[in-house]
Amino acid sequence: MVAYKSKMVERIRLPSREQREHNLDAAGYNVFNLNSEEVFIDLLTDSGTGAMSDAQWAALIRGDEAYAGSKSFDRLESAVRDVMGFSHIVPTHQGRGAENVLYGSLLSEGDVVLNNTHFDTTRAHVANQGADPVDCPVETAHDPDSEDPFKGNFSIDRARTVVDEVGAEHVPVVVQTITNNSAAGQPVSVDNTRRVREFADEIDATFVIDACRFAENAYFVTQREDEFADPETDIVDVTREQLGYADAIVMSGKKDGLVNVGGFVATDDRTLFERCKQRAILYEGFPTYGGMAGRDVAAMAVGLREAVEEAYVADRVEQVREFGAQLAAADVPVYTPTSGHAVYLDAGEALPHLPDEAFPGQALVCELYREGGVRGVELGSFAFPDTDRPELVRLAVPRRTYHREHFDHVVETAASVLESPEEIPGLEITANPATPELRHFTAELEPLSDSV
Ligand code: F0G
Repeated sequence: MVAYKSKMVERIRLPSREQREHNLDAAGYNVFNLNSEEVFIDLLTDSGTGAMSDAQWAALIRGDEAYAGSKSFDRLESAVRDVMGFSHIVPTHQGRGAENVLYGSLLSEGDVVLNNTHFDTTRAHVANQGADPVDCPVETAHDPDSEDPFKGNFSIDRARTVVDEVGAEHVPVVVQTITNNSAAGQPVSVDNTRRVREFADEIDATFVIDACRFAENAYFVTQREDEFADPETDIVDVTREQLGYADAIVMSGKKDGLVNVGGFVATDDRTLFERCKQRAILYEGFPTYGGMAGRDVAAMAVGLREAVEEAYVADRVEQVREFGAQLAAADVPVYTPTSGHAVYLDAGEALPHLPDEAFPGQALVCELYREGGVRGVELGSFAFPDTDRPELVRLAVPRRTYHREHFDHVVETAASVLESPEEIPGLEITANPATPELRHFTAELEPLSDSV
């Protein structure tokens, strides 16, 4: 059921086909190089791209810009306490700032970190501390067709194998990312979180939850986990129970904080809090603003409360589900079940004539832009070299931003691109100024003339 009407609008334009062809070429077949004005429907990310509510805009105006002891910080602190259940928070400029603060406080050279799947920035921050990030997804995570309701879960079996190999003393931190963004945004059950808590206790590790999409995850729990199936179950109760198993959380407010910028670490552990606070002063700012303007802190305090309103989160997740169902009905291969923040297309299935080395996902991303000015992102061989993942394209849905007509256009675009899939050429990298892990942000490519 729709939960919003528009109060402010932003003009968008579909460039002509000729312009799109030109833009794609000028961008080196990498849509990160496109200007937003060149994009009609922008599904590159759901991070910081959503629309704020009138209550958030009102909070912005009332933001307290005091360097120390800002009222806006008090509001954020009480929102985090009420919604997420933690009493100490360290604000940061965004999620990766929180990762730097927390992992920099917890890790040392030679440590191993276990995570259901490390998101790119998490992996980079763990590695930056000289530690080794190891993924422990469940078997079904990379099966685009499995109907397992919690494909985002953390595999305790895999984790145990790693601990047996390296020794528990080398694994000081276990992380659960909810929802599991790098495994097609799949949700994590509360039961799995409970078992990871027990496992962390067993090996005497700190248990961290990456809570970026905690509200979407909680909604899935109410829909799919028997224990929480009672229609009276409140999203906030699920959230508090699930996050309550963790020793600390890292949060990007750009997702379920419903803001354009911001993040934080939260914990009930006073010692860890003090450590994080000191590191935050070095990298982020004084602990009552932490790299954000006071007004941004104020908007996030309101956003966190809105994120757990049933009407909001049901509207959000159901919109994404419907978008996925529309694509599937148009014979576009999609990863199922659909996540809470994005629809993932299975480019390997859509373009079977292209081997992984010809980047089928990136080829599909380019065609979606060429055909309809739609920007998605490749999450396959181009973004993750040398890993055995499905060739996915993520169409991320900004929160409270697009409507049915926008999705109709994307579905028509994808269906039209896939009318003659065999005509879509593969790509090769022609310039890569970055390391292999970060190449998808800046590398340039060209169509392979002999791939079709
Ligand atoms: N953790 C997860 C699971 C994320 O998805 C992200 C960001 C971060 C941490 C880092 O947060 O961007 O605020 O610094 N994900 C965005 C995305 C960029 O497009 O999925 P950040």
